[in-house]
Amino acid sequence: MYQQVTHPCIQHKLALIRDAGTDHKMFRELATEITMFVCYEALKNIRVREVDVETPLAVAKCRVIDEHIVVVPILRAGVGMLDGILSLIPSARVGFIGLERDEETARPSAYYAKMPPQIRGGISIIVDPMLATGGSTVAAIDMLKAQGANRIVVVCIVTCPEGLAAVEAAHPDVSIYAAAVDSMLNERKYIVPGLGDAGDRLYGTA
Ligand code: PRP
Ligand code: URA
Repeated sequence: MYQQVTHPCIQHKLALIRDAGTDHKMFRELATEITMFVCYEALKNIRVREVDVETPLAVAKCRVIDEHIVVVPILRAGVGMLDGILSLIPSARVGFIGLERDEETARPSAYYAKMPPQIRGGISIIVDPMLATGGSTVAAIDMLKAQGANRIVVVCIVTCPEGLAAVEAAHPDVSIYAAAVDSMLNERKYIVPGLGDAGDRLYGTA
């Protein structure tokens, strides 16, 4: 299952983040803001429990989040989404997966993984701005499941039909939330129109 979050506030920020003239400082700010909007939607069904809260006047029946939430950015571009999701759920734990796509083959190779034990029983939210061929996301889900995660959600900024199909084929139980579903991949397996190389644009390494 995938959902594109089409709110006008996100679409406006997408127009800005796609612009080749947007510098790395503004790119980072926009990535944070878009992440907050997409994650807001992705988290709408998490479990809550009732608590009583004493206001200055009376007791209010309130609801608080009742799940362990583990955010898993895929290094390095996924780190650009971390502040956005942690501002929504400051108590979330964070795991990291290091994956790098080969420039020639576009196949990912793993170089790092460190997960909190709460991936077992909690919800793991993989964040990465780009879901292109889907190879990196599928590899990240494989790694999480191998460590016992069984409730996984993916949040990205831009994806495309090939990437969505690859994740759906390998992991039909995983939901994907995106701000944009673009038309295609080019011959270098970049999303078109996309927003370019997200890691380079976030960190000024282009
Ligand atoms: C980018 C992006 C994803 C991956 C998407 O990372 O952040 O992780 O490519 O491509 P895929 O869906 O075809 O696997 P990259 O490997 O360029 O590394 P970086 O984040 O360190 O720049
Ligand atoms: N990685 C990126 O950063 N951008 C793409 O379009 C594809 C992979």
